[in-house]
Amino acid sequence: MRQVSLPIYPVTYPTGYRLNQNESQFPIPERIKRELNTLSFQDLHEYPVRPIAELLENYATYAGVGVEQILAGCGSDEMIHVVTQALLTPEDIVLSPAPDFSMYPIFTTIAHGHHIQTDDLSYDGLQSSILKVKPKLVLLSNPNNPTGRRWTVEELTQLAALVPYLIVDEAYIDFSLENSIVSELNRFPNLIVLRTLSKAFGLANIRIGFLIASVEMAQYFKQFVPPFNISGTSAKIANLFLKDQTYLKEAIDWHSSMRIQWEELFSTIGTVHPSETNFIFVTLQNAEDVWNTLSSIGIHTALHQNAIRITLGNEEALAKAQSALLAYATR
Ligand SMILES: Cc1ncc(COP(=O)(O)O)c(C=O)c1O
Repeated sequence: MRQVSLPIYPVTYPTGYRLNQNESQFPIPERIKRELNTLSFQDLHEYPVRPIAELLENYATYAGVGVEQILAGCGSDEMIHVVTQALLTPEDIVLSPAPDFSMYPIFTTIAHGHHIQTDDLSYDGLQSSILKVKPKLVLLSNPNNPTGRRWTVEELTQLAALVPYLIVDEAYIDFSLENSIVSELNRFPNLIVLRTLSKAFGLANIRIGFLIASVEMAQYFKQFVPPFNISGTSAKIANLFLKDQTYLKEAIDWHSSMRIQWEELFSTIGTVHPSETNFIFVTLQNAEDVWNTLSSIGIHTALHQNAIRITLGNEEALAKAQSALLAYATR
């Protein structure tokens, strides 16, 4: 066995409102539920081919790239796994800002690499760390999970010029697609973009993510993907959502309106960071107390150092959080 001690992802399913994993809370529209009921599953005995080909076509159209530039995986988690396996040789350094997505150090270690984080989310911090530690790749989320901080395309292209590979994890970019770096793929062959259907598309359960790169890089990464890594059943569901003309806009509009309300509530007790995602990040002096108060009434959020991250919940969750925070403030 290898000498590793990695945290095993804690799969929990607490009762109440699970606003701790950035799962979409947008209710699936009735018309889509009806369409889902028309899907046929007569091909369950087959390894999936056609639904996947259709998925890649649909997503390429959505992302504005060629189909040969895309790989699909079991969530973007699998794509992080593939990219680290494919690019790292033992002891190569992967650099991320801090805080950032918790799986980056884990996948780096699995790929025999060494993960380093800067002290903060500043561009300058990242730039000076690059010069100091000379990473093989920089891996960051944009917008940042957990804070919502957005890296500009200019900052990212400057970083791409400084490192062998830059991986931009755009898990939450669908909420503000105009900020995507995908259009820079032509100029930066060392740029790799990761996407997912788990967030704005609200499909965490079907486990579909994507890697987008130059045609050459995509072809290279395909060598590291297991055969038939995506379920055809998941792909059929994804295709239905991707082909719907208005679903994504409805989901984004719902999140915009819920975000305003959640921001208003939490600005009474802390500093709400700007967000164009399905979560808000609030810095608080007494973060643990607030987190406990919310957990005790079944509102589960993610606790960070002096902060909590709250996935945007529905009206019912919001009303519950409102009364709990009122009671907390006047206790
Ligand atoms: C920044 C970021 N990247 C990747 C993922 C993984 O998403 P999935 O594997 O569901 O596509 C998440 C999930 O929370 C995330 O926040």
